[in-house]
Amino acid sequence: MDSKEKLSSMTVLLHWGVGLAVIMLWMAGWYIAETDSSGLLPIHKSIGMLLLPIILIRVWWRMKSGWPQSIRDHNAIEKLIARSTHWFLLIAIIAMPLFGMLWQVAGGHGLFIFGIEVVHPNFSVADPSKTEAISKAWRKIGSEGHEITAYLLLAAIALHALAGLKSHFIDKDKTLLRMLGKKVD
Ligand code: HEM
Ligand code: HEM
Repeated sequence: MDSKEKLSSMTVLLHWGVGLAVIMLWMAGWYIAETDSSGLLPIHKSIGMLLLPIILIRVWWRMKSGWPQSIRDHNAIEKLIARSTHWFLLIAIIAMPLFGMLWQVAGGHGLFIFGIEVVHPNFSVADPSKTEAISKAWRKIGSEGHEITAYLLLAAIALHALAGLKSHFIDKDKTLLRMLGKKVD
């Protein structure tokens, strides 16, 4: 269990494991979209889907354990920004893979995890070599949701990482060290 002096290994592992995986998926997604390198796309989608259950465990663990207690007194504005950013990060990392999956299923592409079929593609009746959207409206919600959440997530991660670095280098408190698994007093 997390305490004010030390965070549990589960908290530390889930924070950095899921955090780094999300950052890497973000960079891969952006690279694919910018360079049209569609060869990487199945890997992006497969890893994103495999990460979803780990993300759900990570969020369940946080809800069950409550938020870590603050190491020192922060003013009301700092507290509000930190807490809302943490909430947003948790919601956004669930929304990203869900929007991605909705996009693919509604677009008729089906879902595959490293070549294993999870949802069957919707092949066109007129030309069975092609797939066809099941719902264009839901495909749009999925694709726009994935893109808009991606940029909001990037802003939240930047704000969050800068706040973590500020607490360490400017305020010189032990918030970052505690998230790295150190015991603090
Ligand atoms: C935490 C998980 C994920 C993150 C952080 C993530 C992030 C991203 C980002 C940043 C982009 C580029 C957005 C843009 O500039 O338009 C992208 C593109 C994309 N993602 Fe994801 N993604 C995740 C999971 C998934 C999943 C599970 C799927 C589908 C099953 C998926 C399907 C796609 C597709 C189809 C694209 C478009 C690539 C293109 O433009 O050709 N993503 N993703
Ligand atoms: C890469 C740079 C990152 C740094 C330096 C960093 C640093 C920290 C620190 C120091 C804390 C503890 C705050 C406290 O004790 O009040 C924390 C908590 C948190 N971080 Fe990060 N973080 C990073 C990336 C991420 C990413 C990518 C995510 C989301 C995917 C994330 C989500 C969270 C959440 C939700 C919390 C609240 C406590 C928890 O649920 O574990 N962090 N972070």
